[in-house]
Amino acid sequence: MSTILLEMTRSRRRALRRSPRTRGRRTAELDLDGAQRRHRPVLASELVDVLDPKAGQTAVDCTFGDGGHARLVAERLGAAGALVAVDRDPLAEERFAAFAAGAACSTRFIRAGFAEALELLSSEGLRANIAYFDLGMSSMQVDTRERGFSYSYDAPLDMRMDPGQELSARELLADWDERRLARALRDFGEERHAAAIARAIVRRRTQEPIETTLELVDVINAAIPAPARFAGGHPARRVFQALRIAVNDELDQLDRALPLAWKSLRAEGVLAGIAFHSLEDRRLKRFLGDRARGCICPPELPFCVCGREPEATLITRRAIAPSAEEIARNPRASSARLRAARKLASGQVR
Ligand SMILES: C[S@@+](CC[C@H](N)C(=O)[O-])C[C@H]1O[C@@H](n2cnc3c(N)ncnc32)[C@H](O)[C@@H]1O
Repeated sequence: MSTILLEMTRSRRRALRRSPRTRGRRTAELDLDGAQRRHRPVLASELVDVLDPKAGQTAVDCTFGDGGHARLVAERLGAAGALVAVDRDPLAEERFAAFAAGAACSTRFIRAGFAEALELLSSEGLRANIAYFDLGMSSMQVDTRERGFSYSYDAPLDMRMDPGQELSARELLADWDERRLARALRDFGEERHAAAIARAIVRRRTQEPIETTLELVDVINAAIPAPARFAGGHPARRVFQALRIAVNDELDQLDRALPLAWKSLRAEGVLAGIAFHSLEDRRLKRFLGDRARGCICPPELPFCVCGREPEATLITRRAIAPSAEEIARNPRASSARLRAARKLASGQVR
């Protein structure tokens, strides 16, 4: 540990400084092995089943991560196929290099937010057979403790998927006013005690900056009623989810990316998404459901005047959840939900 600390910059060390409240509770600070750990692809066989990749097709993996899903898809695409991989994390780009060296199909990596990457691909006129999203964080991100995604280890409050972006969780907590903080905790974390936690954050930062994950956990614990600290999971879970979503602008990215991914698909192409919380799952469900809806005339009209026809058929009428075996093997998969739809050729109504 001491060698690692010696190698850190002064500012890094300051960010890791323990507050009096966290002293004595710090677990290992940096997990350099974390970055080496493999991400277990979630709902992998289910995703490949709904995508049904075929030789010679083109696929866009919008969230490459460790390439777990991409490997399975690439095998099916074969030498005549192509896979475009997107991720905003430089660690994913490093993993892509190893993937590309052994990939069965031709490959390309775009390091960008998936909304920007899909805009680029659309401007290039890409026509894909498959596009998919595996949303949220990768295990590589959570387990690289210094990136501050987890409330389980003390680390600088960072949470940026793209370390090049300016806004980190620490800056957000230092700069956002109380109302904006409370709204983010409510909207992105569905946190019941959002107002009290936002008030406590603002009060604490007037005394000293909140710089580490465990300092924030202390503020949350002190702000919520005692029974809430022991009910239903870790008391900081929702706040950390909210901060991560806010820092990475995750919902806005998804709202912009879904129509672009849909537009990039050829007829009979498939769009699929794996979501890990209801805010994402609702967006996927609504987006795909809207594509699959035909006439929207009021029921009292005797005939259709809107002329709207479905653009899609739903492959998953209900979201697919992981099996009990998968959850036992990989508890992080437990909240995953997969949805998918197939694009219809225009005029082809089912
Ligand atoms: C759950 S992991 C994907 C894991 C991958 N499917 C695998 O099997 O290894 C999600 C990945 O998506 C990336 N990501 C999340 N939101 C993104 C966005 N808006 N734009 C680009 N990449 C994003 C994250 O950096 C992370 O690497």
